[in-house]
Amino acid sequence: MLINDKSYQTVWMEGNTVMMINQNLLPFEFSIHACKTHWDTCMAITDMTIRGAGAIGAAAGFAMAQAYLEAAETGNEALVEEARHDIAATRPTARNLFYAIEQVYEAGKVSSVNAKTEAQRIALNDMEDSRKIGQFGNALIKKNARILTHCNAGWLAFVDYGTALSPIYMAHQTGKNIFVYAGETRPRGQGARLTAWELHNEGVPHVIVPDSAVASLMAQRKIDLVIVGADRIAANGDVANKIGTLDRAVLAQHFGIPFYVAAPTTTFDKHCRSGKDIPIEERSADEVLYQDGIDSNGNRLRVLVCSPGSPAINPAFDVTPAKLITGILTEKGLIEANRKAITSLLKD
Ligand code: MRU
Repeated sequence: MLINDKSYQTVWMEGNTVMMINQNLLPFEFSIHACKTHWDTCMAITDMTIRGAGAIGAAAGFAMAQAYLEAAETGNEALVEEARHDIAATRPTARNLFYAIEQVYEAGKVSSVNAKTEAQRIALNDMEDSRKIGQFGNALIKKNARILTHCNAGWLAFVDYGTALSPIYMAHQTGKNIFVYAGETRPRGQGARLTAWELHNEGVPHVIVPDSAVASLMAQRKIDLVIVGADRIAANGDVANKIGTLDRAVLAQHFGIPFYVAAPTTTFDKHCRSGKDIPIEERSADEVLYQDGIDSNGNRLRVLVCSPGSPAINPAFDVTPAKLITGILTEKGLIEANRKAITSLLKD
């Protein structure tokens, strides 16, 4: 992606350091965060300095490579197993994270250089898969389409391009005159902060939609299709994605609006028979109770936005049943959300 005329990836490795766009500071400040050790990279995944399935997958692969490089430097062999465990404990839901850890862990048994090469390969593939998803997805988008997306499955959520937003960028670049509704996505506001920032940066016409306004927009026939990302897809086609995705899928079916999920094959988990097997992350209640922003002088602030003393719950993801999904866009093309199609996808 281009930011201020300079080309960036969301995450990359320079020497033994993992570099990433600091997503906790966006959209108010653009800054690069450097993780010198695998532990720094773990912390960055946990506190969501980097977030989004593909981006945390790439970061996890780099963290595993860092662990091998650190073990080679210090002679502390035990560090690799500890790191494998610590990286896996950062965030539980996105499949890409576990895929990357295991790939790089196996590659590192040959050498630390091999681990790094494998981590770089995963990041490159993530980019390439996202680009292909954009091409397949663009074919589904008609001229003048009004598209709803939820959370952020754009280039910030991957190494580049994104999944749900990749077709949107291609449709925009091919002159289809599209319009995007970016769902706000409480509590962390990935839609209002990150998707809106990306769309603005790419010059795609859009508005931010309060989460509670989606049903009304659909009832008014203002939305032609929905495209969302995925954090993990079970073998039967059930999809775990950002909390609120299920609401949109139920609404889309009610109003007869196509509902697409976009994700690379690295997001599918054949070991989860159905959505019931997908671990759902529960994050801190503080993310619901407090909001971050800037004041009129540009100073960062954090304010309590709920009734003092009341507790809150914060499930970060929900599961959309396969029967509500029109199709899943992958780097190999559009497939149906069912066991047969997914088995065949993962066999190739
Ligand atoms: O908690 P996050 O921001 O890491 O959640 C991931 C997401 O951004 C979404 O669920 C997204 O739609 C799928 S990840 C590309």
